[in-house]
Amino acid sequence: MKEKQGARFRSEEWFGQADKMGFVHRSWLRNQGHPSHMFQGKPVIGICNTWSDLTPCNAHLRDFAEIVKRGVYEAGGFPLEFPVMSLGETMMKPTTMLWRNLVSMDVEETIRANPLDAVVLLTGCDKTTPSTLMGACSVGLPTIIVPGGPMLNGKWRGQDVGSGTLAWQLSDELKTGDVTPEALLEAESCMSRSAGHCMTMGTASSMACTVEALGLTLPGAAAIPAVDSRKKVMAHLSGMRIVEMAREGLALSKILTREAFENAIKINAAVGGSTNVMIHLTAIAGRIGVSLDIDDFGRLGSQMPLLVNLMPAGRYLMEDFYYAGGLPAVIRELGQHLHTGALTVNGKTIGENCRSAECYNREVIAPLDSPLKEHAGIAVLKGNLCPDGAVIKPSAATDRLMQHTGRAVVFETIEDYHSRVDDPALDIDETCVMVLKGVGPVGYPGMPEVGNMVLPRKLLEKGIKDMVRISDGRMSGTAYGTVVLHISPESAIGGNLALVQDGDLIALDVPNKSLALLVPEEELAERRKRWSPPKPASDRGYVSLYIQNVEQAGLGCDLGFLKGSSGHEVSRDLH
Ligand code: FES
Repeated sequence: MKEKQGARFRSEEWFGQADKMGFVHRSWLRNQGHPSHMFQGKPVIGICNTWSDLTPCNAHLRDFAEIVKRGVYEAGGFPLEFPVMSLGETMMKPTTMLWRNLVSMDVEETIRANPLDAVVLLTGCDKTTPSTLMGACSVGLPTIIVPGGPMLNGKWRGQDVGSGTLAWQLSDELKTGDVTPEALLEAESCMSRSAGHCMTMGTASSMACTVEALGLTLPGAAAIPAVDSRKKVMAHLSGMRIVEMAREGLALSKILTREAFENAIKINAAVGGSTNVMIHLTAIAGRIGVSLDIDDFGRLGSQMPLLVNLMPAGRYLMEDFYYAGGLPAVIRELGQHLHTGALTVNGKTIGENCRSAECYNREVIAPLDSPLKEHAGIAVLKGNLCPDGAVIKPSAATDRLMQHTGRAVVFETIEDYHSRVDDPALDIDETCVMVLKGVGPVGYPGMPEVGNMVLPRKLLEKGIKDMVRISDGRMSGTAYGTVVLHISPESAIGGNLALVQDGDLIALDVPNKSLALLVPEEELAERRKRWSPPKPASDRGYVSLYIQNVEQAGLGCDLGFLKGSSGHEVSRDLH
């Protein structure tokens, strides 16, 4: 038995002691029938599982944990799986974003408190990736991510249909009577026909691509469909690799450098990724100690070309993306724009990993010299309506609305919007700007994905497909439209959005990166005197803690006191 002094692995602080505490740590683990050689002197690998029946996108991860374990055993490690709170995008009310930071605390404290040398994160649905990674960053052990993978392409009435994106289309058509409730029922099962997360370039796919771009997955992992046997191979190999990473001491901070984040921003732009990535990436950077702000996204991302032709910005789906070459083909294409020397979990650089990647379908992945759209990355807007920033995704918006001035039609809350949007008497036409307040991090609370307000029925019936919409909320990565999001400061804390009234003129100018409320400053000052903040949604429990500590969208919506890392040291034992 090894003594505490000279321990090679962190876990030996638990299992390698020849005293009472070593007895305690080992003895109870033996109730599972593990012989002592299984967990002494070997890397102990935590498998952080976001499996839950309540998170359909991650339901297959229960089996994947077993596959990862096979790889860990094969490489000479000892796997210990642990559950964490799972965030199912389609189930949880009012929004999973409210608990992203709570999950990060669960993951952080579980990793630190236990005899783990390295960690595998099994992720899938939108928030399960950033939440677990944020927690892992605040400890810093070697970490690899196994993204659960997208569903197979949806197939409905002879067409490929994208998860989420189809739901938005059908909800418009249901309002106008262009689709029947029966057809809607049929479409449900045709859209979701395999295990996996949304197969559009929504937030789950965008975050899977983002963690691959950061160097945290084995090359090519993001796009493999959940049910493809090669996904299982990837999980097995990841289990093997994390054991080596533990032996090498390849900590997260060696991979998550400023260069890696810059790569991720650019790659998210090139794949037409979700606006939510900005918030999550900023929060992850805050945990690992890399300085990143909203202006970095504007500076680095907005000028990038769109190369990947996936819904909601384009035509295809993740399955097609995988067959076309996946993210390695995009990374090779972008080569000159990236820090190709950035290290990845397999010990090679991102440039080395993707040097020989091939594209097999130019319809899906366009060449750099002939992109689908120039300068398509997420644009960061500034102005008196959003002094700390707002964002718009031009690749999913309407070109003719990129410069537009219109009369504000204001909804004070989401309930106000639902109660009046289809009122025939609502004074609105397609030139107006729809304004939604009270959906920011503090106000809702949790910043839900409601920014892409469905248009009023009377305008949909006229054939209007898009209008300028602005709010302090977010938008699902599967959604589309000329939608300005993440307005900061939000209305609930007194941002100028709170002062907008029906009839005010609002000017959106994406080429010049501005969003302006065309109301004189003196008038705004008068309105501010009459404004008072809304009552907080809760005065107890986690929700109250969240409201009091959550930061604004441009800062990543983390709780202020969670920023940074506490490392992996634990100085006191349990007896
Ligand atoms: Fe889970 Fe879309 S609902 S990824």
